[in-house]
Amino acid sequence: MISRDTVEEIRNRIDIVDVISDFVSLKKSGQNYKALSPFANEKTPSFFVVPAKGIFKDFSSGKGGDAFTFVMEHEKLSYAETIKYLAKKYGVEIKEDRVTDENRAEQSEREGLYILMNFAKDYYKNLLTNSEAGRGVGLSYFRERGFNDRTLEKFELGYALEGWENFSKDAVTKGYNKELLDKAGLVVKKDDGSTYDRFRGRVIFPVHNMSGKVIAFGARMLGKDKNQPKYINSPETDIYHKSDVLYGLYQAKNAIRQHDTCYLVEGYTDVISLHQADVENVVSSSGTALTEGQIKLIRRFTENVTVLFDGDTAGIKAALRGIDLILKGGLNVRVVLFPDNEDPDSYSRKVGTTAFQKFLKENTKDFVSFKAGLFAAEAAGDPIRKADSIKEIVTSISLIPDPVKRSVYIQETSNLLKISESVLLTELNKILVTERRKLARENLREPSEVPAEMIEEKSVSSQIDMLAIIQNQEKETVRLLLNYADQHVNENRLPTYFVNELEDVEFTHPLYREIYFEFKAAELREKEPINSDFFIQHGTTEIKRIVTDLTVSRYQVSKHWGDKYNIFIPAESDKINELAYGIVLHLKLRVIQKHLDDNLKLLKDVKDIEEENRLLEFQKQLKSGEVEISNFLGIVIAR
Ligand code: CTP
Ligand code: MN
Repeated sequence: MISRDTVEEIRNRIDIVDVISDFVSLKKSGQNYKALSPFANEKTPSFFVVPAKGIFKDFSSGKGGDAFTFVMEHEKLSYAETIKYLAKKYGVEIKEDRVTDENRAEQSEREGLYILMNFAKDYYKNLLTNSEAGRGVGLSYFRERGFNDRTLEKFELGYALEGWENFSKDAVTKGYNKELLDKAGLVVKKDDGSTYDRFRGRVIFPVHNMSGKVIAFGARMLGKDKNQPKYINSPETDIYHKSDVLYGLYQAKNAIRQHDTCYLVEGYTDVISLHQADVENVVSSSGTALTEGQIKLIRRFTENVTVLFDGDTAGIKAALRGIDLILKGGLNVRVVLFPDNEDPDSYSRKVGTTAFQKFLKENTKDFVSFKAGLFAAEAAGDPIRKADSIKEIVTSISLIPDPVKRSVYIQETSNLLKISESVLLTELNKILVTERRKLARENLREPSEVPAEMIEEKSVSSQIDMLAIIQNQEKETVRLLLNYADQHVNENRLPTYFVNELEDVEFTHPLYREIYFEFKAAELREKEPINSDFFIQHGTTEIKRIVTDLTVSRYQVSKHWGDKYNIFIPAESDKINELAYGIVLHLKLRVIQKHLDDNLKLLKDVKDIEEENRLLEFQKQLKSGEVEISNFLGIVIAR
């Protein structure tokens, strides 16, 4: 049993922020710290640490307590294990009962597994340097790969002898029972119940959990025997869940926090070689495809992931898969692609530390540029391929949970590919709507749970700006009517032209609306045409004031110029065609945009799929109308 004094001493030495920081990336918030909950999947931080009181509180899961509680909950350790862990971390000496056969049997099975795995790690590690075969084959293999002593120690690398029962026999004589060896995945059970060592004649890569305990092994073969798998890995056990483990995280976590970036590579040797090149913020999913659980793990330390992949086809495929999953997990993703046939391991050894770090710096691309670059060659001169590649990129963007980040990437894609944002947004909304529909089908029981903010909306401020712009256009229309009612556009008089073209347009400004309405009424009733005089005679005070304002020309071009110097400045009346055409397009654009807004609102609530498709088709037509007109007017539509 551990003495009270020992516990007290640990309590005096620990700093809760320091303890929790080993597992969670804390951000300072006033006197306290906050983070995303390590106990729940969440997007906004609800995990708080109050250093003054030495406590934490997790509002997502309801968990809370002191540093001891945190370690117990987070690492699923017993009280005794927690004391030992913290004692080791803070260099407090504890008196421990010697492990005997009897009390070993009493220990929980998990604890037993940890102890056995630790024993196995020490066993393999010892053989690497203290056996002839270990030195001759294992160690020389690691040396060939360029691993130095520090690296061997840091990753606790080892060697498993040839032969069927070397490890098992040793373990049994040390008091570990065969059942436990099987549960730990260290032996393979045959049909007749007998067992043999799982790892034989291979170098050993221990896999650590976040607190540094060994929970699994990867064992690489040395020769080039085509009939054997290159790696033999531990199976799933009570303490090893592959999909929730990242190789190298224990050795990387501080560096990840420090650099606020995590490099993601394919295998054990890539992780280790990067450490040797002084890049320590690196983890690997170790041969399996990246999982959601692994992304969640990274998320505790940083929001930025850079995937490093082989330049070959398989590497690119893996990178693409990884990118989408990482985006979905709400993390920012960048990519470094290595030259063909090089992986991070081989390349770092080939060019050396300095050049390698430089390469990383210069070749890190965000995923949009990466994807755009991939498709650029294929898509050149082929519009269909180009459309496909745009779709590819927008599909990735659609996976990002945060709408603001999505819109930033849309902007970037627009700049990079020279495609208008509105086209990309149409595509994005299409994907989001389809996705929403799928979600709705999956959650038939709770259709209202579907996030409504998935569809991009204009900001309030841009709506306010819009109204000012619109009223300016209305004013301009009225001004042209008042000043040039007798002029012609094409074959028609100006008022006729406007009334024909602006059928769908509704004026928002009450006075402009009134003036426009009088012109329209005169046209429709085919009465005497009216002009500004009509309003000066019949209008209210307000109308009169506006009409006067709009009809007094600000610039009187001196006739002398023409007479004297033969310089003619074109009067406004000379370009009435152009002005009228421009204003009509602006107003039509507005009608389209109003339809777009209305349609988008309908799309949000639509339940029927056919109706949804119809609305989407309409949305597409409206968007292309919008784009066409704005291109003509030279307007950049920022939505
Ligand atoms: N891997 C595995 N099982 C295999 C092959 C690979 O689990 N049969 C996993 C390992 O985690 C390995 C990673 O995939 O670290 C990358 O594989 P690879 O590059 O082939 O392994 P290396 O040891 O780096 O081989 P090489 O020396 O050829 O680069
Ligand atoms: Mn490799």
